[in-house]
Amino acid sequence: MNINGKTQLFGIIGHPVTHSLSPAMHNAALMAMGINGVYVPMDTTDPATGVAGLRTLGFVGISVTVPHKVAVMEHLDEIDPVARKIGAVNTLLFRRKPGEEEVVVRGFNTDWLGSNLALADRIQLAGSRVLVLGAGGAAKGVCFGLVEAGAEVIITNRTEEKGRGLAAWLGCDFIPSDQLGKVRADALVNTTSVGMEPNSADIAVNPNLLDHFSVVMDIVYAPLQTRLLQEAERAGCQTIDGLSMLLNQAAVQLKIWTGKRPPLDIMRRALEDELARRKSGGNISAPKDI
Ligand code: ATR
Repeated sequence: MNINGKTQLFGIIGHPVTHSLSPAMHNAALMAMGINGVYVPMDTTDPATGVAGLRTLGFVGISVTVPHKVAVMEHLDEIDPVARKIGAVNTLLFRRKPGEEEVVVRGFNTDWLGSNLALADRIQLAGSRVLVLGAGGAAKGVCFGLVEAGAEVIITNRTEEKGRGLAAWLGCDFIPSDQLGKVRADALVNTTSVGMEPNSADIAVNPNLLDHFSVVMDIVYAPLQTRLLQEAERAGCQTIDGLSMLLNQAAVQLKIWTGKRPPLDIMRRALEDELARRKSGGNISAPKDI
């Protein structure tokens, strides 16, 4: 890599970000796209000074991860209407108007597109029925995307009140976890952290129910083959692993930043290589980085 005065700056802000897989994926993409750019992880507890610094230093594109996806919004100049509706931003674009000093910072949300694109590889979303496990920040993006694409969404969550709240916001159904046996759907999506290392023997749904679904998607990617995905395969379901959403939301980010089509296959390989590298180093932490 030849870093010089024309190198474009990209990165991720969050706290913590040391675990993030995004640098491996984005740097592989930038190189394959022939872009003179570099993508770095930047740990900050303060999105206000973080955005001010990035603005001054001439950054082009930034990923925003937990815990700043909501707090960062008040420090931006423009917010994409869909991101405003979701109430969270995971992507920043910095633009300098030609001949002007002023930098305009615009926020987007690509998480919901990431999960839609991952699922749309296997099922036609419009008119499909999808059961979503969980009602946190990740579930919000996933469910929003599904509703936007015309799917019928059913939400279940350990804390019923939170699940009912998300369902009401989206205008979809909630089902208590003790009644899941009644649900049959095209897809099941786990948005909870259940099954994540070091608790990889855990599973968010009774495995005996998995044959009620054609496709099962997990957003946990450490381990890559979660117990949920293993049991789903055994039950004859098609499976989508946790890297798919991460990969697809990143591809949309790169499109926003560069205007070019990103190389999904190269990005996927970079993610798998990075996971394997960490595994062999034996000190992988287990985040959900979207
Ligand atoms: P994120 O932003 O990653 O979605 P979050 O907002 O903390 O994180 O949400 C985590 C989701 O995983 C929630 O739906 C949570 O259920 P509760 O609302 O009951 O907390 C769910 N979750 C986490 N650990 C869980 C567990 N052990 N069993 C069931 N659900 C769990």
